[in-house]
Amino acid sequence: NQVYRAGVLGRRPAVPTDFAELERRARKASSRTAWAYVAGGAGLGRTMRNNREAFDRWAIVPRMLRGAADRDLSRDLLGTRLPAPILLAPVGAGQLMARDSDLHTARAAAATGVPYVYTNQGGTPMEDAAAAMGDSPRWFQLYWSTDEGLVDSLIQRAEAIGAGALVITLDTTVLGWRPQDLNLGSLPFARGLGIAQYTSDPRFRSLAAERVLENPAEVTLAAVRSLLTMVRNHPGGFLDNLRSGRPRASVETFLDIYSNPRLSWDHIATVRERTSLPVVLKGILHPDDARRAFELGMDAIVVSNHGGRQVDSSIAALDALIQVREAVGPEKTVLMDSGIRSGADVFTALALGADAVLLGRPYMYGLAVAGQRGVEEVIANVIAELDLTMALTGVTDLAGITRDLVQPVPGRA
Ligand code: FNR
Repeated sequence: NQVYRAGVLGRRPAVPTDFAELERRARKASSRTAWAYVAGGAGLGRTMRNNREAFDRWAIVPRMLRGAADRDLSRDLLGTRLPAPILLAPVGAGQLMARDSDLHTARAAAATGVPYVYTNQGGTPMEDAAAAMGDSPRWFQLYWSTDEGLVDSLIQRAEAIGAGALVITLDTTVLGWRPQDLNLGSLPFARGLGIAQYTSDPRFRSLAAERVLENPAEVTLAAVRSLLTMVRNHPGGFLDNLRSGRPRASVETFLDIYSNPRLSWDHIATVRERTSLPVVLKGILHPDDARRAFELGMDAIVVSNHGGRQVDSSIAALDALIQVREAVGPEKTVLMDSGIRSGADVFTALALGADAVLLGRPYMYGLAVAGQRGVEEVIANVIAELDLTMALTGVTDLAGITRDLVQPVPGRA
């Protein structure tokens, strides 16, 4: 175990190996508005708290003397080979944490072999992120637009960049109530962040340009850069935009198209005709919704409350996972995210029914502290702790992480 040896032998890592210190360092490295958006949660923050407290209610019960010297953490998931049961969650407007955040993350994912789920709200077009990754696995996350043509175009682009699966996020038909952002008046999309997937679409490529033309005093460097990219790639579109006079406020256009408040099972039922990619529904919390997803022929679900950013007082993702697994049976592919902070957490989630988990904020904090290397270390640390936990609980592969290896903590359940 390289990470562990390096630490024991006195080599200092680029990012702290414990989450609390990582969080402190990331906060220091970030602006107030960036921190509010990335670290913040919905409402009073109860869902974020629930996510963590759910892990505190479970204890691992290690088994001894099983000779678990050689361990295999790999898993095949919907045709994607995972070196360990983790993926990088889609995180929008990551440029708040670091310039070219999606590219740094893409390179870190490629270096570790961990799949990267590209966000619909990227600061880098998915084509550029894919180019930075070689053959390493990538998936694409879709927000179902009000514009059905845009839905098709995003799906086709995801197919073209070799995405291994299409992840449709269900829990963000509108943005949640996020007081920190509201108080600071700082929704990142209004500053031209996180809109690169649209601006490389022929029909929406003028979004960034419009933003720059609208209010030159307020735009971010990122918006100017996406404008320049657009001018370089689509000079015609830029000129059309200029000729058409003052465009509609781009933020309004963005809010109109980025997600569909009317999204229903009827939309999801059409997805099978639109792509042959494996389809994953992200943001499921109720067992009936989980059953319905599989009845509709979906390949997998992600039990998630969006890292506590959407509904305040929501059920913890880990609690929902237990109910969902119970409802769908042992065979279905069920992923989980929201609150995973360590390798021990991954172990607990797998014991309670997850096939793999997604990391959100932890890798964003690594990015804020040390860029690509920070992301790589966060991934390596989580995997290393999971590996050691398996060694010390007598488990040699992921199938060995069974329900009997965790118990409710007495008095806390
Ligand atoms: C997210 N998440 C998210 N999910 C998604 O499907 N599309 C997106 O664009 C985003 N954007 C986003 C931005 C930021 C700043 C955060 C923190 C999260 C949710 C993300 O995929 C994942 O569900 C959570 O981050 C998991 O929870 P933890 O690990 O952050 O606790």
